[in-house]
Parts: sequence; C-alpha cells; structure tokens
Amino acid sequence: MTGSSYPPAPSNRVFSGVQPTGNLTLGNYLGAIRNWVALQRDYDCLYCVVDLHALTIFQEPAELHRATRQAAAALIACGIDPDRHILFNQSLNPDHAELAWYFNCVARLGWLNRMTQFKEKAGKDRERASAGLFVYPNLMAADILAYRAGHVPVGDDQKQHLELANDIAAKFNHDWKVPDFFPEIEPLILGEATRVMSLRDGTKKMSKSDPSDMSRINLTDDADAIAQKIRKAKTDPEPLPETAEGFEGRPEARNLVTLYAALSGRTVKDALAEVGGAGFGDFKKKLADAAVAHLEPITTEMNRLLDDPAEIDRTLLAGGEKARVLSAPVIAQVREILGLVHV
Ligand code: AMP
Ligand code: TRP
Repeated sequence: MTGSSYPPAPSNRVFSGVQPTGNLTLGNYLGAIRNWVALQRDYDCLYCVVDLHALTIFQEPAELHRATRQAAAALIACGIDPDRHILFNQSLNPDHAELAWYFNCVARLGWLNRMTQFKEKAGKDRERASAGLFVYPNLMAADILAYRAGHVPVGDDQKQHLELANDIAAKFNHDWKVPDFFPEIEPLILGEATRVMSLRDGTKKMSKSDPSDMSRINLTDDADAIAQKIRKAKTDPEPLPETAEGFEGRPEARNLVTLYAALSGRTVKDALAEVGGAGFGDFKKKLADAAVAHLEPITTEMNRLLDDPAEIDRTLLAGGEKARVLSAPVIAQVREILGLVHV
C-alpha cells in the first residue's frame, strides 16, 4: 500500500486548540485566538476546546464543565463562527484518543523527554506527574492529524510540540511506507504578541494557571479590574526607551509596549514612536484604555452567551458531529495502514 492509494491531505485545513482550565487570558487572545478568527476568511477551520488535555492535571468535574463552556463562549465572543467552521470539545470525537494511542507507539521516549513544557509542568517531582502529561504532545499531534490538517495557529510556546508532531507524522509515513499520508504541519505563529508575559514578572509567560490573578488579564475581567491590574503591573524606574534595542534587560517594559502595539494594531516600532520616552504612569493609562476598548465588547458578548448554557452545549455537540465526519475516513485509513482488522 503506498501513499498514492489515499486521497491527498486537504490543503486548506486549519486546526487549533485551547485548554479549558481557568479563564482565557489576554495571552491566549493575542497569541492565538485573534489569529484563529482572522484565518476563518481563507481556510476551513476546526477549533477545539481540548478537555482531554486538561485531564493531564486533576480537574474538579464541575469546574472542567464550567471552563469548557466558558472557553467555547469566549471563542464565539471573539469571533469564531461555529456555523461556517467547526467548534467542539475534544472528548466529543473519540478519534483523537484512538489516534493518540497509535502515536504513543510511534513517538520515542527520547523525543518526549526533550519537551520543555513537560519539565515545567511536572516540576521537581517528575515521578508524580501523570503518564498523560508526558504523552500530552502525542495527543496534540493526533488532534491535528486526525483531520490531516496542515496549518496550526498557536502562540510561541507550542512550537516545540508542533515540531514533535511533524517528527511523528514523518516517522509514521516512513515506517508504514505511506509517503505524504500525514501532511507536514506549518506552525502559524503570527502577530506582535506571540508570547505575552506575566504582569508580575516579565520573564514568565502569562498563564491561566498562575496562582496570582494579578499576573494576567482574563477575558472575563471588567474595565476596573483591567485598569487596576495594569496600574499595578511591575515596571522599572526608567522612562520607556525610544527604540526596541532599549528593551534589553527590561522584560516588563518590552511586554507592556508589545501589548500596547498588539492591542492598537501596530508594530512595536510604531508604538514606540508614540510612547518612547514617556514615563510608565502616563503610558499605563493609554495601555489600560486600549485593553478595555478591545476587551469590553468581548466580555459583554461572552456573558450574554453564558446566560444560555444549553445553547453553547448544542453548538459544541453539532461541532463534534461535523468533526467526526471529517476524521472518520482518516482513522479508517490509519487502521488499514497499520493492519488492524476492521469491517
Ligand atoms: P493554552 O492556554 O495553553 O491552552 O493555550 C492556548 C493557545 O494560546 C496556544 O496556542 C498558546 O500558544 C496560546 N497562548 C497561551 N498563553 C500565551 C501567552 N502568554 N502568550 C501568547 N500565546 C499564548
Ligand atoms: N497544547 C496546546 C496548549 O496548551 C493546546 C492544544 C491541544 C493544541 N491540541 C492542539 C494546539 C492542537 C494546537 C493544535 O496551548
């Protein structure tokens, strides 16, 4: 059996995912979701709330349920169109988990051992991390490749996982002699803010799981909370630099100006042409205004959607059905390639 026996992978398919743990942040929005929205114009997109990935760390069931609906509402409020594209939660399509098992048998322990996110999340006590956390990147590869999707918009922190997904795809194609069955994945890491940092520490990623709520802006924060968090954001005593070279050794200044640029639709260079030389006090007011102007309509729409959770569930279920229709033939082909007996 050769690759030519199978139809070519769709050239126009986008896949991406977000974990339903806590609330979505400005980092998720600027690093990923905003790009997901833009890609809907030219691609056929699948966007997934990855609840199976969330389970790699213990989740209270009621909280997981809440966070899944809330992530879906946030995505719709940001502009994901569940009618023209596909929005669903991962566990609705068991094909992801099946393909992930096959990939557990393709990926090498050595490859997984190099994953920096595992090292960060497992922390010092690696022995107590779940096995799921270790093979997490294999499930992520399965999410994408169950649809043979070639384009994946993510923030900078997911680059290493996508390289691993490409290694898995290449090894599968090679070992089972099906050249081109799984496509090469192109990471789409787009925009000015591909790595938004914590407001409390400019060397750490802004994360929904950071214990300090002051470290991040949540898509659920109201205008007062946003303004307060920006006012209290860590800075240094110098005025803002005139050029980006002046950010050397000043991670907080770099992060806040990058946020300002991304929120006002400009490059960092253009943003510095406006605010370079200013003190943090004045600049933070402008940044807070830009953040509120951008996020307020999203938060309002999200809250409106959350008033009708049954409707969100229906949307996710319908998306899950559409997703299964696309992955079913791929999984059937994979079983055939592997030599599994199925009727
Ligand atoms: P997660 O919250 O880890 O499920 O991430 C969902 C998407 O948001 C992924 O594409 C991440 O790369 C992106 N993302 C998460 N945090 C940040 C951040 N601080 N800056 C930029 N992108 C981010
Ligand atoms: N691992 C990603 C994150 O934490 C989420 C994710 C799961 C994902 N499956 C994916 C992203 C497939 C892109 C494609 O951010």
